[in-house]
Amino acid sequence: MKPYVLLVASVAALGGLLFGYDTGVISGAILFITKDFALNVRLQEFTISVVLIGCVAGAASAGWIADTIGRRWTLFAAGIVFLLGAVASALAPNETVLLISRAVVGIGIGFSSVVAPLYISEVAPAEVRGGLVSLYQFAITVGILAAYLIDYRLAAAGDWRTMLGLAVVPSLVLVFGMLAMPESPRYLFKIGKEQRARAGLAHIHGPQAAAAEEQSILEGLSLKSAGLAAFRSGPLLYALFVGVSLAVLQQVTGINTVIYYGPQIFQLAGIGSAQDSIMAQTLVGTVNCVLTLVAIFFVDKIGRKPLLYIGLAGMLLSLAALSYAFSAPHLSGSLSTIALWSMMVYVGCFAFSLGPIVWVLISEIFPLQARGLGMSISTLANWIANFFVSQFFLTMLHTLGTPGTFATYAVMCLVTIFFIRATVPETKNELLEEIRVGGASA
Ligand code: BGC
Repeated sequence: MKPYVLLVASVAALGGLLFGYDTGVISGAILFITKDFALNVRLQEFTISVVLIGCVAGAASAGWIADTIGRRWTLFAAGIVFLLGAVASALAPNETVLLISRAVVGIGIGFSSVVAPLYISEVAPAEVRGGLVSLYQFAITVGILAAYLIDYRLAAAGDWRTMLGLAVVPSLVLVFGMLAMPESPRYLFKIGKEQRARAGLAHIHGPQAAAAEEQSILEGLSLKSAGLAAFRSGPLLYALFVGVSLAVLQQVTGINTVIYYGPQIFQLAGIGSAQDSIMAQTLVGTVNCVLTLVAIFFVDKIGRKPLLYIGLAGMLLSLAALSYAFSAPHLSGSLSTIALWSMMVYVGCFAFSLGPIVWVLISEIFPLQARGLGMSISTLANWIANFFVSQFFLTMLHTLGTPGTFATYAVMCLVTIFFIRATVPETKNELLEEIRVGGASA
């Protein structure tokens, strides 16, 4: 692979890093914000979840914006929004300003969660596309881990302003980086800028492969541009069904309960002090990060579906083990160890399968003419499902009990395996335009 392609994907992946950092950082910051602004429980919850309102708004509009001003400028805009949100939240004089700035940060996350994988997938040569989109997921996990570590480091000083404000650094790199990056050649063909598109393709693929790509893109473009109405029937409706379902299944198999509530779960599992639980959470962040590398290196060799099956089977078994461990009246000794290891295995298996590959697939299955919109709707579904799962996790623990909650996620893993078997095509090594989901060619 050309280093140039890796550079383009890495700059875009900074959108993922900010996604991870800004969703992870609040868990540590909230304790000190609560003290400074004397927040009641309701306001605390809202300070945490307001970012999701921004995410939903950002994801809902990102596809349309990316189709109108281009992928590159939308990512540039995401960088500016992240920057404004970080500065405003770090300097917030009161709770109202903080809430507004966290919603602004959410808009940045919503934009980048649609456009970063979309852009990477359109720029990448077919034989490394899965790995490069997985790089975006890797950046998310680095962001989450960095947030845990920075929160840990700044906790003694209670410095929540620096915790939130540090997002300025990657935001600036994203803004200036995107100025230097090329527009997606696929988008340039779509808006009729053929000369620039051709030059871009040649730069990325070399002259020979570029001609084949061009041929394939032009054939794809002969289809009529698809607005929202086109999703109401036929192959596009089917692709949307697959995209939305995958995005929702990524969430309802429970990953964010561990990412957001890890320390609480560790305490339930009998892991001594709060300090130890936070340490264990850092370990979760590290496992999540390191195991994503497996996807980067193998998703284009082994393929999307085999990795998904292996990962989901591991998630299912570890959730079953967690459910078993938690069914004991008190967790201690070997049961605590089983619970701790099961959580690590669960996160590790997610990290090389459902985490990255859902983003890979939803960036691949829609035809160019409907890609922005299709990804936007799928990502929106991902955020809404995230909201419900994380919002109702504590309620689920209360009503179903801890074993029942983890058993429910295990069942959802099984459902996901069957769903993938029935609907998802293997897209390894295919040109984007060759990919067919239920008869729709991408
Ligand atoms: C998911 C996030 C999750 C993260 C964990 C992403 O693919 O969309 O909801 O927090 O993975 O690494």
